[in-house]
Amino acid sequence: MQAAGAVWKLLRGKGGAEPEPKGLTRNDVLSWLKEEEEWKLDFLWTEADRVRHEQVGDEVHLRGLIELSNYCRRDCLYCGIRGSRRIERYRLSELEVEECVRLGVRLGYGTVVLQAGEDPGLSRERITRHVRFIKAETPLAVTLSLGERSDAELAEWREAGADRYLLRHETADMALLRRIHPDCGGERSDRVEFLRKLKRLGYEAGSGVMVGIPGQSYETLANDVLLFHELDLEMVGVGPYLAHPDTPLGRDAASFSLPAGEQVPATDVMTTKVIALTRLVCQNVNIPSTTALATVNTENGRELGLERGANVWMPNLTPVKYRALYDIYPDKACAGDTAEACQACLLRRLASIGRVPGKGPGGQRK
Ligand code: 5AD
Ligand code: FES
Repeated sequence: MQAAGAVWKLLRGKGGAEPEPKGLTRNDVLSWLKEEEEWKLDFLWTEADRVRHEQVGDEVHLRGLIELSNYCRRDCLYCGIRGSRRIERYRLSELEVEECVRLGVRLGYGTVVLQAGEDPGLSRERITRHVRFIKAETPLAVTLSLGERSDAELAEWREAGADRYLLRHETADMALLRRIHPDCGGERSDRVEFLRKLKRLGYEAGSGVMVGIPGQSYETLANDVLLFHELDLEMVGVGPYLAHPDTPLGRDAASFSLPAGEQVPATDVMTTKVIALTRLVCQNVNIPSTTALATVNTENGRELGLERGANVWMPNLTPVKYRALYDIYPDKACAGDTAEACQACLLRRLASIGRVPGKGPGGQRK
């Protein structure tokens, strides 16, 4: 690694010091986010891949995503399943959920992720039954991703055996967040406090952001990466923002966007910079190569994520007939493919980059 070490010193201007990714300052993160020279970025990708290999190995953990419902009581300006949008809504039956779980077991996944809009129709009792069923009948870990639910619900689901909870804080810019993620039900939304609460309850906690939200600056994105570290997260999910034409933000990006040069672009390169920097700053965290990244770069977005710091893949287990209704953003990658079809494709893609599917639940290595 001598050559890499020398380049590192050159890039960081730290004559004499050894490469020290953990010690990345906010300024380092910021300048990497703005970096455009390919030969320098190659160093970032290599470092992120090295730390990924060293910290979490070559296994790619498979987490089967079950989209329980597209009902949502919130009205986020960027999201295609926002409550006020007139679209067909669905909620899986309990039996359908159990069938998805069994399919995940057959396909060798280590985890199922129960995800939905913030849907009060998914009652506390119902989610508890799902968690109990999965823990009693399968070896799978359970991740919940159900929005900002109550303390009592979170505590009960944890008690029932839920292992992890995902809630992206979306952006560290609180003013921007308020504009695009309105409060709801008269309660102030505080996702950072929510993540801290998850950890206190004993969940492995996951956050994340969208990259390239109109109005997002490089400075905020640097703050996001540092916040991942400060929150001591077990999981970080990052994908590009994808404009949905039937949402307020999708229709009117212009009145949110920053001037050219200040606005973060929603590209695959920018997304993988955030993945790579998150790997360097948070070290042993679990990072998915997201469907949004595969959507913005259909050819090899998934692989790029995995080669630049990511170590998780979340294939979709939702019955194909509901997929189009979980319309968070348009043209979602893999949306028309059954879980079995994705399995063949993902195994081929993993093999092509020298990686192997994970065994077991794939919690964070301590
Ligand atoms: N583009 C990209 N990602 C989106 N999400 C919601 N809407 C969009 C969009 N238009 C992401 C959010 C949310 C996750 C479930 O999906 O980050 O937390
Ligand atoms: Fe779904 Fe390739 S992983 S089609």
